[in-house]
Amino acid sequence: MKRVDSIPTQLHIIKCEKHGDHEAKYTKCHDGKYFVQQYCFDCVKESEAKQKLEDERIRVADDIERDKTRKERLRANAGISKRNLYKTFDDYICTNEGQTKAKNDCMRYVENFPTDKSLIMVGGVGTGKTLLASAMIESLVDKHKCEIVKLIEIVRELKATWSRDSETSEEKIISWYTKLDLLIIDEVGSQFGSDTEKLFIFEIIDGRYQNMKPTIIISNLDINGVKDAIGERCVDRLREGGGSMIAFNWNSSRA
Ligand SMILES: Nc1ncnc2c1ncn2[C@@H]1O[C@H](COP(=O)(O)OP(=O)(O)OP(=O)(O)O)[C@@H](O)[C@H]1O
Ligand SMILES: [Mg+2]
Ligand SMILES: [Zn+2]
Repeated sequence: MKRVDSIPTQLHIIKCEKHGDHEAKYTKCHDGKYFVQQYCFDCVKESEAKQKLEDERIRVADDIERDKTRKERLRANAGISKRNLYKTFDDYICTNEGQTKAKNDCMRYVENFPTDKSLIMVGGVGTGKTLLASAMIESLVDKHKCEIVKLIEIVRELKATWSRDSETSEEKIISWYTKLDLLIIDEVGSQFGSDTEKLFIFEIIDGRYQNMKPTIIISNLDINGVKDAIGERCVDRLREGGGSMIAFNWNSSRA
């Protein structure tokens, strides 16, 4: 649209190859001047419609991107590694009976969630314990507060609160871990557990036990090794009320 002082005396034709020529429309303004169209109305309408579609496409793409970021952040906060992001039970291939049983046990565990039953997953390196645990978190994370974390990370986090400029406290961290709907502690016993570390883990496992919240423990050690690493009182609480154990006793899938 353009503003002009008056309507020209000779016929004003707007040419359009697509829609044909047509006479320009003059619309009087309140100040006595005129608005006149400069381009074919149909072309303008078409280009506006095209722009609207493009805007909508961008809006949908933005929404998808925002949703993807939110989903990934949720999973990263739940401790799922980049390697295991969006891994599901379908990614766990079974070539022996043990794997089939392990997978079924884990699937049944999440089907029955929420539960107060804990679980111990023990076995050799590369047998897919972390993969199955990640698949369990994946199937629960949108509805429940859950987290998979290596024991050493919990210990590191708790020890960091001893520093003078720490913004958090041991109590706050312990309270966080005791309140999660599901806590999976990975790599239990992969380093020498000091008395302090045993105390930390006892506080968390016992706190969760008191709160009727389940804990899953993953380790390369056998059950006796786990007892040595975290203490018998922890294992006792994990096994109470039918907390079961899955043994991953086959060869590594790592090439
Ligand atoms: N049954 C399986 N199907 C498909 N991939 C598997 C399977 N088992 C293991 N993997 C793959 O093998 C690698 C090792 O698995 P994962 O890290 O889960 O083992 P792990 O038991 O946690 O080992 P570690 O005790 O050393 O931590 C990963 O890349 C994982 O995706
Ligand atoms: Mg692992
Ligand atoms: Zn046109």
